[in-house]
Amino acid sequence: MSYNFDKSLYFSALKTKRFGKEIFIYNEVTSTNDVLLKENFAYGSVITAYSQTKGRGRSGRNWVDDGSSLIFSIVLTGLSIDMLMPFNIIAGFSVCNGICLYADAKLKWPNDCIINEKKTGGMLLEASFTGNEPSKIVFGAGINVYNKSFPEDISHRATSIFLNSKNKDIKKELILAATLNSMEEMLDKYKNNQLEIDKLWADYSAYINKKISIHINGEKKEMIEKGINPSGELIVQDIISNKITNINSGEIGYDFNG
Ligand code: BTN
Repeated sequence: MSYNFDKSLYFSALKTKRFGKEIFIYNEVTSTNDVLLKENFAYGSVITAYSQTKGRGRSGRNWVDDGSSLIFSIVLTGLSIDMLMPFNIIAGFSVCNGICLYADAKLKWPNDCIINEKKTGGMLLEASFTGNEPSKIVFGAGINVYNKSFPEDISHRATSIFLNSKNKDIKKELILAATLNSMEEMLDKYKNNQLEIDKLWADYSAYINKKISIHINGEKKEMIEKGINPSGELIVQDIISNKITNINSGEIGYDFNG
């Protein structure tokens, strides 16, 4: 299948200075993150593809889709190691803003996109390093856009924009442009100390002040999500001991528990 991506629609909505000004559209790649990590592209370049043969998810998982998704990655430089986690959160805010053109998306920490308690998008931030500092940062997202149904084994936890939008004329080009507009603006503000991710989190979180269950090292714990701190770590409160803990490991999975 060849990837129909309407570049003029995309550019009509793109309001950035640099993000996504260069866009490369592929029918098939191994992984859009891989292409940007392995080859040299200008700052802010974006790759989108119809399909990936080796799409990666977090924690070593695969990311598989059937051509119904918006798949893209962007390459950046100039973020210090301390900025990676905050940027990951900012990128999550931005993808939510893009999806919100059509449906009310929220976040599950650090940046799974959730609509009506089901996942509609996943994101993966990767970097190559020179010494201890990132030399290249690649952020990729896979968003379920047009899926009309999901396989039975995942239908209880996966959804798409199509399934949640009144407007069925959904344009992936507009979602991508809105995401990049928001990402560039928020990152600029963050760099100028004009954006506090910990304050904004409450607006985007699907689970703020709700009971969640967190899986840490094979153990399941009941917690209340209290928010995030300025570094992007999740703040949780143990339901039994009331102890507050900050969580920063990518290995933690947590699911909504009512
Ligand atoms: C997750 O939910 O575990 C993260 C999924 C990230 C998938 C996207 S699709 C575009 C980019 N390329 C990849 O190989 N992965 C990310």
